Amino acid sequence: MNMIITEVSSQKQKLRHRKIMCSLIISIIIICITAIGSVLLGYLLHQQPKQTQYQQTISVNQSELCYGPLAFMHEQGTRIHWCTKEKVESQLVGYPSGVNTKSHYHSTFVNSTNFNYSIPGSDVQYSYYLPETIKKFVVMTDTHGNPKYTTLLNEIDFDFMFHNGDLCENGDLSELEVGFANWPTKPMLFATGNHDYNFNKFNHVVERPLHYYQQIRNIGVFVIYTLNNEDKDAFNFLNDNAYLAEDSDHVFIVTHNPTYATGGHGAISKLSKKMEKFLDTHSNLNFRAVFSGHNHVFTAFKRKELLYFVNGVGGGHLNDVYSKQKMGDRVWKTEELHGPLEEVNDQSYGYQYHLDSYSKYTRTEVSIEGNKIIYVIRDLDTNTVLRTYEQTF
Ligand SMILES: [Fe+2]
Repeated sequence: MNMIITEVSSQKQKLRHRKIMCSLIISIIIICITAIGSVLLGYLLHQQPKQTQYQQTISVNQSELCYGPLAFMHEQGTRIHWCTKEKVESQLVGYPSGVNTKSHYHSTFVNSTNFNYSIPGSDVQYSYYLPETIKKFVVMTDTHGNPKYTTLLNEIDFDFMFHNGDLCENGDLSELEVGFANWPTKPMLFATGNHDYNFNKFNHVVERPLHYYQQIRNIGVFVIYTLNNEDKDAFNFLNDNAYLAEDSDHVFIVTHNPTYATGGHGAISKLSKKMEKFLDTHSNLNFRAVFSGHNHVFTAFKRKELLYFVNGVGGGHLNDVYSKQKMGDRVWKTEELHGPLEEVNDQSYGYQYHLDSYSKYTRTEVSIEGNKIIYVIRDLDTNTVLRTYEQTF
């Protein structure tokens, strides 16, 4: 009898142990599932805003692109534009509201100054984050479809770029294809040139008006077009919108037509005087420089501590300045000009403000270091520095 009681008691004890073990295992499984679930949920919640805001993918293979993607800075974000050889549907994944019609041209507005995407089937990675503090930007002009500028730009680090117009020569799509074949994946602020305006095919690419204002962090930029009798609109725009730059630490004007120039076209004194009047009227703003093109030589002028640049040529002809027929009394007798020059006619208006001129392919690199701006003028053929200008405040 005693034996039977002992066996029953032992079985009960085993059963209790099993129950405890089962409860323990189930508890461990529940804890593990909860922990893994929490980690996964946290990861997904953390990733979702990133994907929505930045991660985009162009659903075309790079081999199908004729050019691009090009990124144009806008006030509220970035216009990304690309071209496909065939008329196909193409859009940025993550931006379903973007254009997705059968076309050669594709354009999407990204509601951010930052973007990061890849092109499936290729090793192209295109990432950009606009830094809080602008350290360096590049100014180029008159590329006329030449790839020299864009190829060399891959060798230096910079935050963004101004293009002062004449992106094209004849308005052909192939010029963009060649000119942007080695694009350095940095956004650009574009001012329309007479070649771009004449062919009028580039509005579709840039999608900005002739005159506009752009704030880039603490930098204010006015872009205007003053050729083809658009000057009245341009100066009305400047006067009406000057207040926009009141809080900017540094303010620049980007315009194809120069205020002063020693190159083939020279100055148009009527416009030069309007620019001088505008800048004198708004001397309370932190204007630093006027960047221009149109004349295919590099020139620097200085009036009242403000610098006026023609940022040199990227693809156009260089030799006009030695042609008596083209230049008249302004013809160059040496390869470089330095210091104040004699004003002989309307085109040489402002020659007393002249600093330097070089008939070379150049680019301008602008560095902002605290209370100092440094403008480095670089010869594109030799990669040597031709000249450096400094402004302190
Ligand atoms: Fe040009």
